[in-house]
Amino acid sequence: MIQLQHVSKVFRKTGTAVHALKDVTLDIRAGEFTAIWGPSGSGKSTLLNIIGALDFPDDGDYLFNGESIRRFSDLEISRFRAANIGFIFQSYNLLPNLRAWENVVLPARYTGKRFNKAESKARAMKLLEQVGLSERSEHLPSELSGGEEQRVAIARALMNDPQVILADEPTGNLDTNNHQVILAILRELHSQGKTVLVVSHNPEVVEMTERTVRLRDGQLEEQ
Ligand SMILES: Nc1ncnc2c1ncn2[C@@H]1O[C@H](COP(=O)(O)OP(=O)(O)OP(=O)(O)O)[C@@H](O)[C@H]1O
Ligand SMILES: [Mg+2]
Repeated sequence: MIQLQHVSKVFRKTGTAVHALKDVTLDIRAGEFTAIWGPSGSGKSTLLNIIGALDFPDDGDYLFNGESIRRFSDLEISRFRAANIGFIFQSYNLLPNLRAWENVVLPARYTGKRFNKAESKARAMKLLEQVGLSERSEHLPSELSGGEEQRVAIARALMNDPQVILADEPTGNLDTNNHQVILAILRELHSQGKTVLVVSHNPEVVEMTERTVRLRDGQLEEQ
């Protein structure tokens, strides 16, 4: 379902060019559980951002369900992202002035008319319950622990029921207990049939997944 074909990405900053990805060809099947592994600066986040259509290849092509993202307009790209991709970041990225459930409903805005207001809230509450946070739905991010913030971010990623979950070092800021809780949720999403890609430096994550994609200097090593 996810096909990267000879993808390259170059960042240019005042004179120097950084080749973040070099000729990366990669297929991810629907339902696959994949770890992305590699040293700092090897291109892991760049790869994830391209798969999530937050960034775009300079060269090569990205096909999702056989369709090239290249041909999409800006509006089609934001719709594509909202419908198909759930993002989980290391730093949670919750909006500070919105309550937990209000953060969770945000992605529904970008799909148009799928839910009315009451349905959106009901769905957000159900997702918060799934991540064990029913009691925290009215809290602001500043009133939550890091692990709780990340669980809100996971609920938010699931709001539009995307097929693909992209997690960029989702437990990077968390202690061991919270790390385990988040990994258990990712495992559960995989068992529900989601396609899960997780960037991590943690060997435990690599052991948990079916497949490891290794990057070095923007190039794919073994898989
Ligand atoms: N927006 C940008 N502008 C310029 N250079 C960038 C940009 N984003 C990333 N880079 C460079 O591209 C390379 C790959 O970055 P990337 O963030 O993908 O690495 P990473 O594998 O995720 O590293 P880390 O484990 O530290 O998060 C790095 O050398 C980085 O400095
Ligand atoms: Mg990174």
